[in-house]
Amino acid sequence: MPWHQFHVKMTENSLSPAAITDNLETRFIGQRVIYYPRLTSTMDVAKRKAKQGAIEGTVVLAGEQTAGRGRMKRAWLSPKGNIALSIILRPSSAYLSSLIMVASLATVHCIEKVSGLKSQIKWPNDVLVNEKKVCGILTESDVRGNIVDYAIIGIGINVNLRLSEFPEISPTATSLSHELGRDVSRLDMIRCLLVEAERLYLALPAGESVYQEWRDRLVTLGKKVQVRSGEATYRGIAESVASDGSLLLRQSDGSLTKIVAGDVTLRQ
Ligand code: BTN
Repeated sequence: MPWHQFHVKMTENSLSPAAITDNLETRFIGQRVIYYPRLTSTMDVAKRKAKQGAIEGTVVLAGEQTAGRGRMKRAWLSPKGNIALSIILRPSSAYLSSLIMVASLATVHCIEKVSGLKSQIKWPNDVLVNEKKVCGILTESDVRGNIVDYAIIGIGINVNLRLSEFPEISPTATSLSHELGRDVSRLDMIRCLLVEAERLYLALPAGESVYQEWRDRLVTLGKKVQVRSGEATYRGIAESVASDGSLLLRQSDGSLTKIVAGDVTLRQ
């Protein structure tokens, strides 16, 4: 067996909280990992744990999800071999809108570091490899007035997903193993994600660097796009993004529209 296959097999067998937290170079993110071989959605369990007072940085990790959730109330396919995790944070409200930047940048950095593949971000926070979606990110929070009780970052990465078994997503989605032609260590990916997420999260108070890097990594900017946001559909050029993460769309009548949430399709 070639070394990399042996290494993946060995590390995959040890996808346990202890293996993840062992000498993990973080102060709080991932210092507590709660692992479920199978659950409905890590978002639901993380929400429950957060309400019960779980400390900041607690991670809920699933072997597989039976009711994974995506943005816009969509389902998220989450079979074995992928990464599905949620991180509980307790940020100040000023940083809530930056969490999607933290999560998508951490994912891009770790895909490059662990697999060597180049990846890009499609606004607001889809991560693409070779123009296909490899990761989805969902953030949810409980805010009262200006006080954040908790925020949860959910990250789903198609790591060792056999696309031939899921023809319903194969036109638009890919996985790291599909792109590489070999399996990738989920343990290495998870440990990297926790370290990177914490580094970027702690960088938020220092200024605009996270926003600037996220903006520079967006494949969407300067492109002709169609954006579906609620009931509305907008067309135009994705001109820029604001520091709160919203998209600034230049429409054909010259107007600039600020879109807070939506789904982007690149047009020819
Ligand atoms: C999207 O692109 O629509 C977002 C998908 C987010 C999926 C992740 S997997 C871990 C966490 N648990 C969920 O149920 N959803 C998120």
